[in-house]
Amino acid sequence: MRLYTFSLVCERYFPFTSRIRHNTTQRTIIMPDEEKRTIKTIAVLIAMEAEAEPLISSFKLRPCPKSHHHAPLPSVVRSGEIAFGEENKAVEIVLVTCGQDSTHSVDSVGTVNAALCAYEVLKTHAPDVLINAGTAGGFQSKGCEIGDVFLVSEVKFHDRRIPIPTFTSYGIGAIETLKTPNMRAEITSLKSGICSTGNSLDATDVDREMMLQNDASVKEMEAAAVAKVCEMFKTPFVCVKAITDIVDGPHATETEFLENLAMAGRRLQETVPKVLEFMSGKSVADL
Ligand code: ADE
Repeated sequence: MRLYTFSLVCERYFPFTSRIRHNTTQRTIIMPDEEKRTIKTIAVLIAMEAEAEPLISSFKLRPCPKSHHHAPLPSVVRSGEIAFGEENKAVEIVLVTCGQDSTHSVDSVGTVNAALCAYEVLKTHAPDVLINAGTAGGFQSKGCEIGDVFLVSEVKFHDRRIPIPTFTSYGIGAIETLKTPNMRAEITSLKSGICSTGNSLDATDVDREMMLQNDASVKEMEAAAVAKVCEMFKTPFVCVKAITDIVDGPHATETEFLENLAMAGRRLQETVPKVLEFMSGKSVADL
């Protein structure tokens, strides 16, 4: 056990929230020494099957004996005990995809299903860390190229505009991801930037203005929703996104996205195992 002040705990996991609650009274609480515990279970949440398939095959993940399906959700859970490195540092990987929409028979992408999936996997498996991995559009004005992989620093919404002063920052919903300085130093191929989330693949002029205000490097459809659920569960949140299309480029998003989806899946297959290997045998404080 270790003594924490409430504000210190907030600063570690939810720096943004603690900043806007600067006038919260400090109180001392006792918390288990979670940050120093070796990470045993990592949840990986990926919206689409095509994004997840290369990882499922390479790790030989199997239907999760504890929770393959979370009826009535369409989500699909696969898991496996993976040993990394010469020291065989084992970690349980619980990979959840959002599953097929029962009415439309397509992957249930977007914030609603991602939040529900996150809720179920956090409640059922109580992972030490949750990683939201997937594809995203990138801004060339921020130096993005197709095939880049980002370790996201902060997530925000661009389609929750509430022009009532007391609700504006709730709508944007900014949440910083877990700080992982050692992992960033080790996996140098990962770019860093802010991720903006909305429920559309394309973008209206107003979305574009909001993403500019959000200082976004990448745009996708789940991360800010998943981060919010992780915040509720006090579970460290990590976000890895591979770029399929250029948001501020000349080509139609949907064409570029479909052309590059398989390539981005392979980029995730190369990168996510490096992230998992770095985490295995370590504590959250070591990351
Ligand atoms: N996923 C991949 N590319 C995207 C984009 N441009 N917008 C939203 N989600 C995406």
